[in-house]
Amino acid sequence: MCSVVGYIGKDYGRNFIIEGLSRLEYRGYDSAGFACLHPENNRLLYCKAEGRLQNLAAKFVTNPIDGHIGIGHTRWSTHGKPTETNAHPQFDCQQIISVVHNGIIENHHQLRVQLLEDGHVFHSDTDTEIIAHLIESLLKKHNDLNRAIVQLVAMLEGAFSFICIMEAYPDQMILVRKRSPLCIGMGDDEMFVASDALAFAEKTQKVLFLQDESFAIVRRNGVEIYDFKEKPLPIMIHELAFDWKAGDKRGHKHFMLKEIYEQKRAIHATVEFLASLQDDLWGHIGLSEEVIYNLERLSLIGCGTSWHAARIAQFFFENICNIPTRIYLASEMRYMPFFRESQSLYIAISQSGETADTLEALRMVSSFNLPTLALTNVASSTMVREADGFLLTQAGHEIAVASTKAFSTQLAALYWLAHRIAYEKKLIDGQAMELAEDDLLIAAEVLENSIENYKFIIQQKLAPFYAQFKQSIFLGRHISYPFALEAALKLKEVSYIFAQCYPAGELKHGPLALIDEHIPVFIFSCQDQVIYRKLVANAQEAKARGGHIVAFCFEGQQELIDLADVPFIFPRCRALLEPLVMSGLMQYFVYEIANVLGCEIDKPRNLAKSVTVE
Ligand code: F6R
Repeated sequence: MCSVVGYIGKDYGRNFIIEGLSRLEYRGYDSAGFACLHPENNRLLYCKAEGRLQNLAAKFVTNPIDGHIGIGHTRWSTHGKPTETNAHPQFDCQQIISVVHNGIIENHHQLRVQLLEDGHVFHSDTDTEIIAHLIESLLKKHNDLNRAIVQLVAMLEGAFSFICIMEAYPDQMILVRKRSPLCIGMGDDEMFVASDALAFAEKTQKVLFLQDESFAIVRRNGVEIYDFKEKPLPIMIHELAFDWKAGDKRGHKHFMLKEIYEQKRAIHATVEFLASLQDDLWGHIGLSEEVIYNLERLSLIGCGTSWHAARIAQFFFENICNIPTRIYLASEMRYMPFFRESQSLYIAISQSGETADTLEALRMVSSFNLPTLALTNVASSTMVREADGFLLTQAGHEIAVASTKAFSTQLAALYWLAHRIAYEKKLIDGQAMELAEDDLLIAAEVLENSIENYKFIIQQKLAPFYAQFKQSIFLGRHISYPFALEAALKLKEVSYIFAQCYPAGELKHGPLALIDEHIPVFIFSCQDQVIYRKLVANAQEAKARGGHIVAFCFEGQQELIDLADVPFIFPRCRALLEPLVMSGLMQYFVYEIANVLGCEIDKPRNLAKSVTVE
């Protein structure tokens, strides 16, 4: 879980690099390092430390190196112990080439043996050092930087990205990406480079995401990009829709509330980002078009909220692109018989891209040589590196443990992807694709407006009332059932109120026995007339037993509205977008209940943001 950050430009780069690394440090690391070229004589200078970034910063007091071109790294050790020597940057024999690297060079042992035979001297146990020594020998051989890089990448196996600065090329920085993300923030006479745009989001909104299997020569005033055969690639700049201010609640009491309110912008950003990839989509996400054209089956894998997003998305893929879709709960999948299905794509859904069960399930699928895609919110995550392709939601940094904007952007991205696959398979035309994008933007609007509509009554009356109950039942049908699962999870984790969710049709098969006036029943409606009628019948069953009904329903659903003690009424929308439209208000309601109870909302007891153990 390493991070890389770099700078080239008019200013001195160290402060930005350390600040950028600290923005990514929530991912965990065990050592850190920085290198730059001396601003006057271009000599390579460096400083490294074991442990936290503060340890590195403390060393700058006695070793105040800085320059107009620099690179930094936080390392999570894979090859070699977390020592200062093994920390990045790593160097060539003469210490004039410096490299920071994410990922793994799988054939490093074989390359090291060869380089040792050629007389190179190694100082660390890392696979990264190989890169610096190879650049050294390839530059001697060719004296042409681009050719040296092309030859270098042909020799390296694995998933990796790295940044390199050299005394011999003091006005340029070399970036290489293969299955591990790298992006460039375009400034004014300065460029910011990082494994995750979060690192420079406060400096610039203009981002260039390096395409898979490409390299870039970055100067302070321009960028050249090539594929691994040295063919120049177009420069495609994306606009970051908002800046991420990690650690800043922007006046909200909790991060969860701030993140609930960021959803409209986050959905917009996700749709705009995905739409901007249109021509280049499969190349950008790292999958071959063939995989998509021949797709006959889909499997979605996730845990917790991401698993709920997967279950909702099953309706997208089966209805929009007619592809049978299987949903796997990652923690169960690995212990079940696995049947290898050809013409299938496996999508791991994970906000963090680090969840251990999902990651292991992804690895298991990869071991069968089946195509994989990671849908995640964290560009520099392990899943992004290990899956064949990746698609990024643009939710921005999610800090509250309970997932809100990551969930809604997952839904938006999956809805978009279902349409894009349908378009590729010629099931829908370009106009329908554009309509789908518009529908997502409208859904985002409704999501936010519905919070505003009910905010006052929730704060004043409803949250204090529902905070008194110790338990609750959640019901949904069809697409609203997985959404009800998500609602129940959200209430449990932030308020510690016990919530049990059922498909509404199961009520009379047992759970009806639980219902009396001491238990609120949350019902999530659908617009489909047949399903709606069934839900009304379920609501009547609950009401007849004294149940207290909170209904999330749609305009015109009068019978349900009349039955409910509390009806939340939404404008009509695309049926498949019902969960997205309802998600903001559902999250807001449970947030306010937890707030009344004085819970530790952003960090609920016993829970962690990134579950990196099984
Ligand atoms: C609940 C929540 C968790 C996560 C789950 C998977 O609000 O956030 O259920 O969804 O731990 O995490 P990711 O999506 O990072 O794989």
